[in-house]
Amino acid sequence: MTKTAIYPGSFDPVTNGHLDIIERGSKTFDRLIVAVLENPRKKPLFSAKERLKMLNIVLKKYPNVEVDYYQGLLIKYAEQKKARIIIKGLRAISDFEYEFQMAMINHKLNPMVETMFMMTSSKFSYLSSSIVKEIASYEGCIKGLVPDELYDMILDKFNDRDIPCDANL
Ligand code: PNS
Repeated sequence: MTKTAIYPGSFDPVTNGHLDIIERGSKTFDRLIVAVLENPRKKPLFSAKERLKMLNIVLKKYPNVEVDYYQGLLIKYAEQKKARIIIKGLRAISDFEYEFQMAMINHKLNPMVETMFMMTSSKFSYLSSSIVKEIASYEGCIKGLVPDELYDMILDKFNDRDIPCDANL
């Protein structure tokens, strides 16, 4: 039986921390669906179309990884896709309370679907989409934090000129 897992998120934008989870997830499951969903607690900077475009650019090299968009409850999406596993990345204890609540509520809504957590690699433990946006908004260097192919697309949201930087991450 094919093991399908869903990796949901707002990916606003996708970071190297997300990529680390996707890469490891693609080796763990037969099929991994990276699903852009809306987080009602956040107002995205990038449109759904832009977020999908960025994910498609960086994930095209993974044959068992698909990119999709869904507006609605994650558990309904998992049911639609016949996926029994949701994977989430955990960076720090600060992530735990919210993710614990989400895992519990999703399990209540459908006990057949399991949420599994992967610890983010320590080198990305500080990284989040919000931090990337904050650095970029102040013309800071985001090299090494996001995939190289997306560097210009992300900076274009904030500035129209190149930001010279020499990050060594
Ligand atoms: O990257 P994020 O912002 O932490 O991702 C959160 C996301 C989009 C996975 C979460 O907000 C979500 O599942 N949204 C869909 C609505 C839903 O199912 N909420 C949980 C039950 S109330």
